[in-house]
Amino acid sequence: PRLWLIVPAAGQGRRMGASRPKQYLDLNGRPVLAHTLARLHRAYPQASLRLCLDEADAWFDPAWVPFVDWRRVPGGQERVDSVTRALDDLAGSAGQDDLVLVHDVARPCVHIDDLTHLLGVLQDERVGALLAAPVADTMKRADDQGRVAATESRDGLWHALTPQGFRYGMLCEALATARRAGIAVTDEASAIEALGLAPRLVAARRDNLKITHPEDLSLAALILEAQAR
Ligand code: C5P
Repeated sequence: PRLWLIVPAAGQGRRMGASRPKQYLDLNGRPVLAHTLARLHRAYPQASLRLCLDEADAWFDPAWVPFVDWRRVPGGQERVDSVTRALDDLAGSAGQDDLVLVHDVARPCVHIDDLTHLLGVLQDERVGALLAAPVADTMKRADDQGRVAATESRDGLWHALTPQGFRYGMLCEALATARRAGIAVTDEASAIEALGLAPRLVAARRDNLKITHPEDLSLAALILEAQAR
């Protein structure tokens, strides 16, 4: 079976409050998107890439794509719509049992060892798997006044990271089923779960942060520097 990579990169990143989408912000001299694609390529040089970009994107430069086999696909309204469009683009090329890994462009610090480990786990895993990290902080539930309504047990709670990997046929079925049922899907695993299946959690480094808020960019810069030492 072939290995496909889907990188949703069609978001506007409004929470960053920056003048350009966050995937194009500078991170140690290169845009976030270039870092993310370079890491994925180092771990998965044989993969074929579908990169979801906004149709009106004026920042993208194809020179940042190290993959030999890749194609740009138009993004959708939400992240899940962008991923669905990329999966639609694979129809006719991908086999039902081909592996599809989905990775947020906003996660440039994902470690090569975790990428390699995930792919290894996926070789004999039918349902699929995602990188994840156990929650370290005490978890509070808020009331509508911004006060603590309850302290939740963090036992068994994990942060869902990316990449998340599934078989092409199952992932298409899961996303179509979730759409019909009106289930909100913020990652691929939640659509698979809605089928009644349990994706495997693959413990990963906690520094695989998603650049979301302005302070995340300087953190990511430090993480990349530390990883390079
Ligand atoms: O904004 P957030 O960080 O949650 O987005 C997660 C990922 O999904 C980002 O890589 C972003 O570019 C992507 N995305 C997308 N299409 C959208 C919204 C977000 O590809 N409509």
